[in-house]
Amino acid sequence: MGIMTIDGQAIEFTDEPNVLSVIRKAGIDIPTLCYHSELSIYGACRLCTVEDDRGKTFASCSEKPRDGMIIYTNTPRLMRYRKLILELLLAAHCRDCTTCIKSGECHLQELAHRMGVHEIRFENVREIQPIDTSSHAIIRDPNKCILCGDCVRMCDNVQNINAIDFAYRGTDAQVIPAFNKKIAETDCVGCGQCRVVCPTGAISIHTNIDEVWEALADKNTKVIAQIAPAVRVA
Ligand code: FES
Repeated sequence: MGIMTIDGQAIEFTDEPNVLSVIRKAGIDIPTLCYHSELSIYGACRLCTVEDDRGKTFASCSEKPRDGMIIYTNTPRLMRYRKLILELLLAAHCRDCTTCIKSGECHLQELAHRMGVHEIRFENVREIQPIDTSSHAIIRDPNKCILCGDCVRMCDNVQNINAIDFAYRGTDAQVIPAFNKKIAETDCVGCGQCRVVCPTGAISIHTNIDEVWEALADKNTKVIAQIAPAVRVA
């Protein structure tokens, strides 16, 4: 238990797991792409970065609250950083937003609109990857993956299935199905929970999702949210 000062307001905290939770408790809006309270903390996107009274910046999702902390959440410097992060993510992202299945519910798109990122100054140097439609449940479009790792943590740590994981390093880093197979050739059970947490159109749902739910009835699969097949593909 303790008290932090956030943007000049004294906020009490008790068992909040991180500074981000205390910021949200204070009613302050802060963008995130890789933080989900159901998943382990990964600190990949850095959008939740805040600064302290000495000007030190850190990801608020990955920092424990401490008594006496003084932080600022929306300074001009932080806004500049967040816009640049979004611009870099969008630069390495397929640009078919208007025809994307997730258009209108894509968290990356929503943040770009909200933060006024309308132009991308950088070239997309990522090689175009094939879309994996092999699964009866999900479609993977690696060209829309922002490497937030939400799907990996959901599949591996929550569902204990390990159908997908990170591979390669640096600019070659990717999320791929186990052993670089097609998703249908892995242990994927089609629970669709990766789709629930994916912030972009990198994972979407096939049309036959109702059959998938019936098939899952006997499997020991944790469901955080049932997928609404609002947007279906043929
Ligand atoms: Fe904190 Fe992504 S939400 S680093």
